[in-house]
Amino acid sequence: MSARPFCLTLAVVGVLAVLMLPPGLSELRAQSSDATPLYPQAGFGDASGETVYKAICQGCHMPAGEGAYGAGEYPALAGNPKLAAGPYVAMMVVDGSGGMPAFGSMLNDQQVAEVVAHVRTHFGNTYGDAISAEDVKSLRR
Ligand code: HEC
Repeated sequence: MSARPFCLTLAVVGVLAVLMLPPGLSELRAQSSDATPLYPQAGFGDASGETVYKAICQGCHMPAGEGAYGAGEYPALAGNPKLAAGPYVAMMVVDGSGGMPAFGSMLNDQQVAEVVAHVRTHFGNTYGDAISAEDVKSLRR
């Protein structure tokens, strides 16, 4: 009459539950820290820059890239002179910074390049010198 078999069962169930999580899910949870996940948890396949922007970025930077100020500070991407530097934007997307989560593990090089091109050529921005997937690859650590 020991409690042991029951504990063992609980442990096994616990381990199984962890094993059954989709790959990457626990990692994403860890990254989204204070925010509820704003973006799909399963990755993006071959999504375009616009799709990625709508799914991920606009939750914070707003649909027209106007940013949001209030409880937090989400800089505008519209009319933001820092977007002149494509690699800077790519680094932000890959590595994050402060309140901006890192999306490097969610997006492949091509998707990063595309969403960077999207924000640099929309919302009144006209930076045509697109960075390539190769450039993004070289920025990854
Ligand atoms: C959870 C909210 C959130 C999401 C989602 C998000 N950002 Fe950000 N972003 C921020 C915050 C907060 C900052 C300011 C970070 C800082 O000051 O260090 C920022 C900064 C930036 C900057 C730098 C702006 C500047 O003036 O230096 C760029 C570029 C940017 N984000 C692009 C994107 C793109 C592209 C996406 C989608 C792939 C995205 N962000 C998704 C919150 C977010």
